Amino acid sequence: MSEPAAGADFAAPAESAAIRVLEAPENAEAERQEILRGLSARPKRLPCRLFYDERGSRLFERICDLPEYYPTRTEHGLLAERAGEIAALANAGHLVELGSGSATKTRLLVDAFRRLGPPLAYTAIDVSESSLHIAAAALLARYPALDVHGVAATYETGLDALATRATPDERRLVLFLGSTIGNLDPAETSAFLGRVRASLAPGDGFLVGTDLEKDPAVIEAAYNDAQGVTAAFNLNILRHVNRRFRADFALDAFAHVAFYRRELRQIEMHLESQAAQRVTLAALGLEIELAAGERIETEISRKFDLDRFGAELARHGFEVARQWTDAKRWFGLTLARAI
Ligand SMILES: C[S@@+](CC[C@H](N)C(=O)[O-])C[C@H]1O[C@@H](n2cnc3c(N)ncnc32)[C@H](O)[C@@H]1O
Repeated sequence: MSEPAAGADFAAPAESAAIRVLEAPENAEAERQEILRGLSARPKRLPCRLFYDERGSRLFERICDLPEYYPTRTEHGLLAERAGEIAALANAGHLVELGSGSATKTRLLVDAFRRLGPPLAYTAIDVSESSLHIAAAALLARYPALDVHGVAATYETGLDALATRATPDERRLVLFLGSTIGNLDPAETSAFLGRVRASLAPGDGFLVGTDLEKDPAVIEAAYNDAQGVTAAFNLNILRHVNRRFRADFALDAFAHVAFYRRELRQIEMHLESQAAQRVTLAALGLEIELAAGERIETEISRKFDLDRFGAELARHGFEVARQWTDAKRWFGLTLARAI
């Protein structure tokens, strides 16, 4: 199968949005340690944020449009239906989006908040700088007066950078869409929710999109599309690692594998070594051996139950304001409030 193209070139960067790139030296060292640990572990692992270089971000946008990939359209439908209700309940003047990607669905919320009247600010936090430029350009083209900012950083660094508020009474709504929360394991989820809560003041909102438990065949099809876009996205992590860490992963020596694990309620993506091989990551001073058939885990995507998710939020200092789901109960939106 020939590799699918990554998609159209990104638009020119927006001139009038302030995009800050935050690269703390301690983060670079923490990342090196994380990769060293992950590739020395059994099974071997790479952090899924490394999917998202410019090419990976473009491939993800193509995944969102695939017929098999139901989460984006289902969440889009829910937001189209509920954005007005969400805006009225959250009553915020500053939307802060984590892992914003192209922020396409976000426009539904911006429209709804703008209908309420007061001025609105929007800040996107994403490790993919190219995505921030795309999102900012599209938002500014649509809403020239919107106060748009981008922070190229991990969720944690980005949230820390936003600790100071424009005005003491600014009310925020943090958005975390696309079921991206499912990429965190239970311990990471708990640490992440604690971090989000610590960045909020009582009364601030947190809107989270979660993919819900369903027939595993539907989920597996979404991560094994017929056009091979998800496979190309998965393999792209190796291309990114090769560039970032002067590594020599041969992409054609690995195959995309994705399967649902019922006991963990998660789909997993792996890259399976097609032969015994040795790989060097020169920038990390690391050499690894892979046996034929050995896998590197690249992503988990947990599937949720809305009641259990609400209870988890409550354990981290939130109260659930409202939850919504679609007619098939495939995807959920939870609006929570910091207490
Ligand atoms: C699954 S995509 C979701 C994009 C968009 N929110 C949507 O709903 O379509 C995850 C996004 O989060 C970003 N991302 C992944 N891990 C991240 C991290 N640790 N910190 C900040 N951004 C991250 C990626 O660059 C990507 O844009």
